[in-house]
Amino acid sequence: MSAQSDHATTHSDHATTTADLVVVSNRLPVDRSAEDDDWRRSPGGLVAALEPVLQQSGGAWVGWPGQPGAEIEPFTFDGMALVPVVLSEEDVELYYEGFSNDTIWPLYHDVISPPAYHREWWDAYVRVNRRFAEAAASVAAEGATVWVQDYQLQLVPSLLRELRPDVTIGYFHHIPFPAYGLYAQLPWRKQVLSGLLGADVIGFQRVADAGNFARAVRRQLGYETKAGSIKVPRTEAEGGGTRTAIAKAYPISIDVAAYDELARRPDVQARAKEIRESLGNPKTVLFGVDRLDYTKGIGHRLKAYGELLADGRLDVEDVTLVQVASPSRERVAAYMQLRDEIELTVGRINGDYDTVGHTAIRYLHHSYPREEMVALYLAADVMLVTALRDGMNLVAKEYIASRVDGGGVLILSEFTGAADELTQAVRVNPHDIAGLKDAITAAIEMPEAERRRRMRALRRRVRDHDVSDWSRSFLGDLALRSGEAATS
Ligand code: F6P
Repeated sequence: MSAQSDHATTHSDHATTTADLVVVSNRLPVDRSAEDDDWRRSPGGLVAALEPVLQQSGGAWVGWPGQPGAEIEPFTFDGMALVPVVLSEEDVELYYEGFSNDTIWPLYHDVISPPAYHREWWDAYVRVNRRFAEAAASVAAEGATVWVQDYQLQLVPSLLRELRPDVTIGYFHHIPFPAYGLYAQLPWRKQVLSGLLGADVIGFQRVADAGNFARAVRRQLGYETKAGSIKVPRTEAEGGGTRTAIAKAYPISIDVAAYDELARRPDVQARAKEIRESLGNPKTVLFGVDRLDYTKGIGHRLKAYGELLADGRLDVEDVTLVQVASPSRERVAAYMQLRDEIELTVGRINGDYDTVGHTAIRYLHHSYPREEMVALYLAADVMLVTALRDGMNLVAKEYIASRVDGGGVLILSEFTGAADELTQAVRVNPHDIAGLKDAITAAIEMPEAERRRRMRALRRRVRDHDVSDWSRSFLGDLALRSGEAATS
């Protein structure tokens, strides 16, 4: 199979192509369109942040093209060399759906859903991580920097270090790192820590995540850790002694300018008006948008909203909740069950409270392009982020960046990484349904002056820390480490 797109050209001579900066992530930053088979840039902050850096440095991106069994030659897309890694049907089932998304994902999100531990899944995880490490090793130039992304690839740093001791390795963990008492459940807890410690810099979303990781390293491996510096023994092949790995928080953000620009476009603003009209112009539009994932607290949000309607504190003539739930990991049993539960609850609430002209919940099981998302953000009076555990939650930041009119109220769970930064949001504990109900009514009734004051402060924070600051700060620390290694 070859790449066909205006943006994409196939490398005929990829074996000789090497890059000074290599990003490695489970998915490539492009998706193949079902309509015309062309490659399109994937939506999302990571791609927006890293694309300019890779274009400037002639960098490469290693990842899975998203189709099981697809053998695709390396190709260039908009100035980035893309190096596809093949995953068979079985790899997808055992490594991606199994170990990554039914072991690590629930364990690292505080066991909201019980993690499954299967040796067969672990074996596939090791095998596939090795394949990613080999692909990165083959494309990295002498002394290159390799930046590994996220929990699907926790073993890549050490596997790559074995293959290529000359490269500087960074790893960024996009999801939470759990407290030691939970982490300790993992049958392969030592191997995963050693895998991560192959990196020179290990980045986390929150200070607490970096602390949890350092504690697990002390308890499981007995290495000395001090203020985020970890003394890691060198192998004999590396010359013995110790080296220092850094574990530190680098909270990720979004491409703020892109959201700002879209939100100022007259067609997007007109679409926001049209959305409100199509909902029957209710006084208040509540809005939630999440991947359909059990970590997002969608059920808790619906429970609080349903009770407010039942109590008569909200009236369906005045308020509508728009809930976008984008399809995700649909072959994993916990996700199938969640979908059934959410859709049953939505059906019940709508059945009980809808009138012919008004709906309680407009439920949309789709993904939308960024323009439509920004129009929805502009149409929403109150944004509901009620995650039970979330590494960061970029939806919260997207909402703020889109509110160029200075309006809107953000309700934000204290169990998101974003809550550490977005202190002017209305904070909630989503497990406390009474508190959540009060927060929703307080947000609806909040005086305009207070709404604007809070949104001003939130916008300042998001503007001052966008995704390019995030990548610059991580890569800056990595460059320092590579300088120190060169002089030690
Ligand atoms: O941030 C967590 C994460 O798993 C990313 O690694 C991933 O790109 C995104 O959520 C979507 O998940 P998936 O790739 O499993 O569809």
